[in-house]
Amino acid sequence: MTSHALLVTGGGGVGKTTLSAALAVAAARNGRRTLVVTIDPARRLATALGAADLGAEPMPHPDEANLWAAMVDATASWRAIAHRHAPSDVADRLVDNPFFEAAAQHFPASQSYASAEEMAGYLEARVWDLVVVDTPPAAGGIEFFSAPAEMRDLVGGRLLRWLTGGSLPGRRVLFNLTARPALRVAGSVLGSDLLERVAEFLMDLRTTYDGLARRAVQIEGHFRRARTVVVTTSDPAPLREAARFFRELPDVATGTTAVVFNRVLPSGWYSPTAPSDGPVVENLQRWGAEAHRQSEAREEFAARWKTRVATVPWQPHPPTDIDSLADLIEQSEDLPLERLGVVS
Ligand SMILES: Nc1ncnc2c1ncn2[C@@H]1O[C@H](COP(=O)(O)OP(=O)(O)O)[C@@H](O)[C@H]1O
Ligand SMILES: [Mg+2]
Repeated sequence: MTSHALLVTGGGGVGKTTLSAALAVAAARNGRRTLVVTIDPARRLATALGAADLGAEPMPHPDEANLWAAMVDATASWRAIAHRHAPSDVADRLVDNPFFEAAAQHFPASQSYASAEEMAGYLEARVWDLVVVDTPPAAGGIEFFSAPAEMRDLVGGRLLRWLTGGSLPGRRVLFNLTARPALRVAGSVLGSDLLERVAEFLMDLRTTYDGLARRAVQIEGHFRRARTVVVTTSDPAPLREAARFFRELPDVATGTTAVVFNRVLPSGWYSPTAPSDGPVVENLQRWGAEAHRQSEAREEFAARWKTRVATVPWQPHPPTDIDSLADLIEQSEDLPLERLGVVS
């Protein structure tokens, strides 16, 4: 069986997690074995997906056949990554280093890289027809796609080489000679013990380079084969993020991409000839004007990037149970569900 990836990207707060879940529910109800890999779901959404305490191990949904869910925990993923790519004694030391968790959790590319490695593993397991991946919020938008290259450059890059010297770890000598004077000053401020832990962390991290570099290439292959949904709202900041996707990732932004405008107001709310009197009429006019502005933003985006756009309506209540998630896709317009692999 071939597993397809469906990547859901876009700026912060546009509805990526919600739409990932909704697309996954729709695919499962169409008989496709579907795994949704979510990040940071609101508690009620996690509950709707069948587990309040989701982990990296995919869990079958208790009431929805064909639906599985998993949640990426960057620290846990990085523990596995360290063990996959470093000798086991080095991996143990790396994982125990006080900087390990901070780097895994707070460095945006490391969170994205962790999700990307998890995605690759799920795809290669060939258990699911469709793997829907909600991209991490920390990286915001398209950084998810550059994370493997960024991680590879960081771990194998000049900064680490300069700090750790030409030869690979194993030795306990800290840093190279040029770096040492600057680091001695830092050491007197931070305490040399702390500095030693940083040095050890960086040197140990370098041993993962070969494995990580090879894996990054495979992950980039998965990205190129994936179908992508770019989620936006009609507002300027998310639209700029969506445009970056087309501008900066022309190889990923191919025919397999759909742009979804979320939280859309019905265009029927706009009428250029409404009467103008009283607060209710005023309210209708404002929302009418907003609906009109939204539809103009969609047309402009579609023309500028020569792409079709789909819409998902603004719901009065945030969709947090499985039926309301399915409704979201039912009420959408122009979503190319077949092309995205949601319908077979
Ligand atoms: N179509 C919609 N109508 C109403 N509320 C929505 C819709 N899509 C998303 N939301 C709400 O918007 C908020 C942000 O959505 P979320 O999926 O968490 O965004 P992201 O993952 O991109 O940060 C959530 O409270 C969610 O319930
Ligand atoms: Mg989210």
